[in-house]
Amino acid sequence: MILMKVAVVGSGYVGLVTGTCFANLGNEVSFIDIDEKKVEMINKGEPPIYEPGLEEMLKGNLSKGRIKATTDYTEGLKNVDVVFICVGTPSNTDGSINLKYVKSAARSIGEALKSIDKYVVITVKSTVVPGTTESLIPILQETSGKKVGTDFGLCMNPEFLREGSAVKDFLNPDKIVIGEYNKKSGDVLEKLYEPWDKKIPRLRVSIKTAEMIKYAQNALLATKISFINEIANICEKIGVNVDDVAHAIGLDSRISPRFLRASRGYGGSCFPKDVKALIAFANSQGYKPKLLEEVNALNERQPYRMIELAKKAIGSLESKKIGILGLAFKPDTDDIREAPSLKIINRLLELKAKVKVYDPKAMKNVKRIFGDKIEYCESKEGCIKDVDTVFIITEWKEFCNEEFLKKVKIPIIDGIGVIRPERANELGLKYYGIGRII
Ligand code: UGA
Repeated sequence: MILMKVAVVGSGYVGLVTGTCFANLGNEVSFIDIDEKKVEMINKGEPPIYEPGLEEMLKGNLSKGRIKATTDYTEGLKNVDVVFICVGTPSNTDGSINLKYVKSAARSIGEALKSIDKYVVITVKSTVVPGTTESLIPILQETSGKKVGTDFGLCMNPEFLREGSAVKDFLNPDKIVIGEYNKKSGDVLEKLYEPWDKKIPRLRVSIKTAEMIKYAQNALLATKISFINEIANICEKIGVNVDDVAHAIGLDSRISPRFLRASRGYGGSCFPKDVKALIAFANSQGYKPKLLEEVNALNERQPYRMIELAKKAIGSLESKKIGILGLAFKPDTDDIREAPSLKIINRLLELKAKVKVYDPKAMKNVKRIFGDKIEYCESKEGCIKDVDTVFIITEWKEFCNEEFLKKVKIPIIDGIGVIRPERANELGLKYYGIGRII
């Protein structure tokens, strides 16, 4: 039985996961993307991005006839109840959000709506600054010749998916946020989310509120990380292990232990971009968000803490050989967007160090950036051979393995807490951690 018909514009990780999961729950889904190659891949059951569990789910639902992908908006929007806009929102040079893809998707949806005689709810899922979704109304009305609220609906429905566990997160959310233009629009979306456990709160709010919830949530998580990184930097000065402090404060139920892992700073396609976009947005509204500015500034500096630790361990880095383990912005992905590893490699090259790198998944992407300026190793063992020190930047499971760490005789510069300092001491490692003292 088909529950509802859904279209998803944009087949990045948010769009693909959203569409595939809705199909898996029994809805009929059409992906619309301007990239013909992506469309072809989806129709063959090959997801253009890697996300655990996604390929099996995509293949399963293609074979049940619940999924199709197309470049044609009119075909993709035929008979649909809801269309999700999941296109990218890159940053402008000043950190503000660039909405050109969201606007052009709205224009194409509006054009296609002209020939569709149904109450379609247009729903923005891309992360957009408050006011964006409503700013699409004139575009949608002009291109379609129809009226928002009466002829078509409008919603904003943010996502809270983490890369690497996006399918799981989509199916088990802490909350479902529905920002609605009017009740009729929100009711359609609530019906689509009916299969989820009734205990999961459905929050029906205004469109602007939904947009703000997404930014506030990411900004708070980023703030937690910058906060614990600041504490780590202080801990280092006084010989205290930041993990003991984080553990203790995390036991307070008002705080929670999560996102208190001191590190070389946060990376990825979301936190750095979203914090900067929120800062630029606040400024545009005549408010100077000093706390967020420092969250961002500390995060920009934090990767270089690893360089300082290396200097402490081996002195000047000029002509020294450095092994780098972990390039992706976090484990289980090949994504290197805003990865702290990139900043660290650049600085090491400026300091005229010789750099060798290894990552289980992200090598190809890094090669595209650094070419022959650095050496690429086929294994972690190869990467620590004949080097003066090793940086561990990403906590891939294989780098946290004690059997492996025991073999590392050179100084280890730990950027994410791969081993407890007391244990490193017991094993006789030459260990230097961010806020982690032997
Ligand atoms: C993040 C949020 O966690 C998701 O809820 C959100 O939906 C998503 O952004 C988004 O806006 O689309 P993601 O970027 O996939 O998800 O990755 P995270 O697991 O949150 O990690 C981000 C960065 O923070 C990584 O570089 C990680 O190493 C770092 N981090 C995380 C720390 O340094 N310390 C921590 O305690 C936690």
